[in-house]
Amino acid sequence: MKIAMFSAKPWVHQAFEPLADSFSAGITWLEPRLEPATAALAAGHEAVCVFVNDQVDAAAIQRMKDVGVRLVALRCAGFNNVDLKAASRAGIGVVRVPAYSPYAVAEHAVGMMLCLNRRYHRSWSRVLEGNFALDGLLGFDMRGKVVGVVGTGKIGKVLCDILQGFGCRILAYDTFPDPALRDSGVEYVELPAIYERSDILSLHCPLTPETRHMIDARSLESMKKGVMIINTSRGPLIDTVAVIAALKTGKIGYLGLDVYEEEQELFFEDHSEQVIQDDVFVRLQTFPNVLITAHQAFFTKEAVDNIARVTMENIREFLRTGTSANRVD
Ligand code: NAI
Repeated sequence: MKIAMFSAKPWVHQAFEPLADSFSAGITWLEPRLEPATAALAAGHEAVCVFVNDQVDAAAIQRMKDVGVRLVALRCAGFNNVDLKAASRAGIGVVRVPAYSPYAVAEHAVGMMLCLNRRYHRSWSRVLEGNFALDGLLGFDMRGKVVGVVGTGKIGKVLCDILQGFGCRILAYDTFPDPALRDSGVEYVELPAIYERSDILSLHCPLTPETRHMIDARSLESMKKGVMIINTSRGPLIDTVAVIAALKTGKIGYLGLDVYEEEQELFFEDHSEQVIQDDVFVRLQTFPNVLITAHQAFFTKEAVDNIARVTMENIREFLRTGTSANRVD
């Protein structure tokens, strides 16, 4: 099987290369993102493999169809960057890795909560400079705090388990509540109640037209003053401009982002020698109570190994049978 691997960063190479022989795969490593302008690079390959910020829109799909591509294999869970209708019209299959390590993402979300709360990022740099003062580092006990979890699928569920271990009280909202979580003590409520009652709010639902900008000026208005918001799901769940306004008034006390609305222009690349042109992002970086990581929540050894193995299995299964258990329709 011939695979065009777009956005092929070193970690992708390291994870997939050892599997190539056992899957009889010829992999072409392509550094650029997939987008309409680069789609023709897939010529001569049955499958393309892409990641979260590749732009699999109708134009890119048409160009891939023109050069004989049969399959788009996402090496991630989310598929909001794929025009599924265009893929279906073009007769191109789409597969994904539905679960590779919910623990990786949930643990990163908890890490962000603790870092923001206890200001590890600030104390680390202080101690390096020989400043051992505690002023400005006052945190709070996690025990007894109300954490609102939006989306209790694979990642949200693990987060609930971890936070229950901390002694937090968990409120949850999901369009399909999980009875086992309810039995474990998680209280399902409607979204407005989550916004009103949570000390910490963590987002774990997919990006859909319904969830886009769910955190906006209106929902922020109903939240507790000083709320902590964590987003490790998808950037556009949050209206960044509204969040900046709420940071300025102190409505938001802490903000942890592993994803950002316009991240495709920034994340996964080294821009340290350039002037960042995204003024909204640069404003976010100026707040002492904002912690941003560059879409790394998934990035553990276990997750990456699972991503590579399942992606290769998906491609082999689809090319042999014309479908896959992990097909996205
Ligand atoms: P999942 O599919 O297991 O769970 C998603 C849950 O959200 C489901 O229970 C679903 O019923 C619920 N849901 C759907 N629409 C909703 C709505 N309008 N309001 C509330 N809940 C809703 O997905 P999983 O694996 O837990 O992943 C969650 C999200 O995390 C993914 O959509 C993806 O965007 C993101 N993600 C981020 C990663 C990162 O590295 N930062 C890595 C992996 C996933």
